[in-house]
Amino acid sequence: MNCDYGRGIRPFERTVALGVVLAIGAIFLGCLSPDTPLSEAALAELARGQPACGELTYENFAASFLATYCLRCHTAALATDFERRDAPQGINYDSLEEIRQFARRIRVRAGELGDMPPRLLPVPRPSEAERVQLIRWLDCGTPSEAELPER
Ligand code: HEC
Repeated sequence: MNCDYGRGIRPFERTVALGVVLAIGAIFLGCLSPDTPLSEAALAELARGQPACGELTYENFAASFLATYCLRCHTAALATDFERRDAPQGINYDSLEEIRQFARRIRVRAGELGDMPPRLLPVPRPSEAERVQLIRWLDCGTPSEAELPER
């Protein structure tokens, strides 16, 4: 009879345990992250309509907004799920092209709902005024300096 139980955790058990931990982590991040919808005041401001497009550009606003609040997880520079804090693979905002590809979802999650960045993680998050600016830039069609008409 083999009573050799004293060898500690086996590789398969370790894999299963790690899987459970990662799954719980993903559920925690993904589902328990509460929304922070825009206030009535911010919604009213947005409803008053769009000021002239072109003030906010990729260069003077969006690139630094995304770099400050999003790229610590949503960047191709981070490979593993752990490094990305479970931000989905392939959803990166390193370039204007990628932002445009995901513009609709960025507007919803970071602008309207305010559950990106995830609420439960200790990371910097945009103020409501910055979220309004993000929505305005997206609704202007994500302009860059090069695309603005001559002024
Ligand atoms: C701390 C890490 C982290 C930061 C910072 C972060 N995210 Fe995320 N993001 C995640 C995770 C984890 C998910 C997947 C779970 C979910 O969808 O809630 C996700 C998912 C998303 C999705 C949904 C992707 C899809 O399936 O289409 C969008 C859109 C998004 N993030 C936008 C943003 C934007 C915009 C910012 C910056 C304002 C941001 N995120 C900052 C971790 C992060």
